[in-house]
Amino acid sequence: MCGIIGYVGEENAVPIIIEGLKKLEYRGYDSAGIAVCVEDGFGVVKQKGRLAALEERLKDQPLKSRMGIGHTRWATHGEPSDENSHPHLGSRNKIAVVHNGIIENYKDIKERLVPKGIEFSSKTDSEAIAQLAEYYAQKYRGDDLLDTVIRVTRALEGSFALGIMCADDPDTLIAVKKDNPLIIGVCEHGQFIASDVPAVLKYTNKVYYLSDNEIAALTKDGVRFFNMDKEPVQKTLETVTWSVDSAEKGGYEHFMLKEIMEQPRVLRDTVQSIKGDNKEPIESIDVTSIDKLVITACGSAYNAGVVARYVFERICRISVEVELASEFRYKDAVVDEKTLVILISQSGETADTIAAMREAKAKGAKTLAIVNVVGSTIAKESDSCLFTAAGPEIAVATTKAFSAQLVLLYILAVRFAAKLSRISRESEQELLAEIAALPDKAAQVLKNVDSIQKYASTCVGYKNIFFIGRNIDYAIALEGSLKLKEISYVHSEAYAGGELKHGAIALVEENTLVVAISGCGRLRGKIMSNIEQVASRGAKVLMIGSCQDVHPDGIISCIGLPEVPELLSPSLSVIVMQLLSYYVAANKGLDIDKPRNLAKSVTVE
Ligand code: AGP
Ligand code: GLU
Repeated sequence: MCGIIGYVGEENAVPIIIEGLKKLEYRGYDSAGIAVCVEDGFGVVKQKGRLAALEERLKDQPLKSRMGIGHTRWATHGEPSDENSHPHLGSRNKIAVVHNGIIENYKDIKERLVPKGIEFSSKTDSEAIAQLAEYYAQKYRGDDLLDTVIRVTRALEGSFALGIMCADDPDTLIAVKKDNPLIIGVCEHGQFIASDVPAVLKYTNKVYYLSDNEIAALTKDGVRFFNMDKEPVQKTLETVTWSVDSAEKGGYEHFMLKEIMEQPRVLRDTVQSIKGDNKEPIESIDVTSIDKLVITACGSAYNAGVVARYVFERICRISVEVELASEFRYKDAVVDEKTLVILISQSGETADTIAAMREAKAKGAKTLAIVNVVGSTIAKESDSCLFTAAGPEIAVATTKAFSAQLVLLYILAVRFAAKLSRISRESEQELLAEIAALPDKAAQVLKNVDSIQKYASTCVGYKNIFFIGRNIDYAIALEGSLKLKEISYVHSEAYAGGELKHGAIALVEENTLVVAISGCGRLRGKIMSNIEQVASRGAKVLMIGSCQDVHPDGIISCIGLPEVPELLSPSLSVIVMQLLSYYVAANKGLDIDKPRNLAKSVTVE
């Protein structure tokens, strides 16, 4: 999940690369580096730590060039260090490479090259690419850079998005994509490669999305595309509708808060999308030919799947399996051509979810993806794909994309139920109307910001927090718990309300904080008795949901929700928990948009 960028054109590449890396830092920030073509080869500055440190270093070691590549790293092979930072050069300083992905056979490559006197300077897998390219360039002198790159690419096993330069060919920048995202930006003053669109939006909104096993050869005048047989490939130039500021913070202190506040608009756009681009993928699914529904994803996307299971089972009357993608990919799943596998992924590049998708396809299952990034691997390889209209989500902790996933899953369940004649046309219209009303209700929930912020300030001391709920409230409790853990570093656990008494309640003591979700009106009495159970053992309870006639024992606060069908209530209760987590983390002064150890998209295993 590193971020890579490159530029070749009429401008000085260095500020363009640095600005681009700032927009890619959310993809990983263990180290940063830049390499540019200069008179006698490459000018390279790279080091462990954040991009800001690299910028400082460049003030002492200024670089200027019309072509260069840059990288911000999330380490997979070789700890974060100066020598393991990208770009990596071959030992003859002729080839420079930036890489996103994992080279699974890098040790074999190293074992072949070291006996030939080639010295490796890092512990990374990526360096093998640069060393092998130099070796081939030396061995096959008739090759041009494109030939060399094709030869190298054929020798690599694993996943890679690459930017490659050769000191002997200072006008050509080569990009290669396999399994990791790579876009090509084009404009009159130069051409760009980047892991993601925000890195180039300041300069152009005209992009090509590379597909797997495609190569782009960029010069200052344009770009050509090839396959692995060096045959030209025709690509469609796409126009990105995201504006530059939609990838900026928009005045908020953190991307996460901006993205939480964007949710009413995102829900509205996503609801609208089913009349547009998302209509055909939904309608083209022959639900009657399916006898099994599996949802597989990771992290928050998995939590969205757990919520969706309650919705699908309740209104479609079909059983749904929800699987962690990292488990699904290795379990020899019982799926076949009568199975629909739904893959949920904000980035569309999560390695485990890509692998789960490929496993499902290999077994003949139909695959439907719900993705936020156009041109991403899951979007392109799944049989059909729905796009959440969330725009770029920069904060590592997902909020608006998660909420958009829920809305698409609700709509999918309603359409499936209608196609299966499990609900009447009238019920379908009623449910769709309730879904369409969610954006306004989400806006109402957001009006609680001040009381949630105030309440969060009382939560800083807690070491252990429970999120409990019944039925669909338990499902959304999973997401509330993950949000708190990943941005405030406070340990929490989601628990089915009825299950606490079977062991975990032993952990409840004086001042344990319990967040009790009560969106499921049918089971309100049950969750109230769970609240009694924990309050009587000294727990302090924050209740989310129906606050009427809530007696004060142990309940120190209650955040009410607008009236909403229980199957849709997770879309509202999750906003309260997003804000709670945000303000607990803000009170602790943490780096909310870039939590420690995490990255926005886990594109490696
Ligand atoms: C969510 O806040 C986390 N950042 C993480 O769990 C994320 O949901 C997971 O890595 C899946 O990412 P994806 O949706 O891009 O596939
Ligand atoms: N495997 C490469 C490294 O560890 C790239 C990592 C990544 O793409 O996250 O440097």
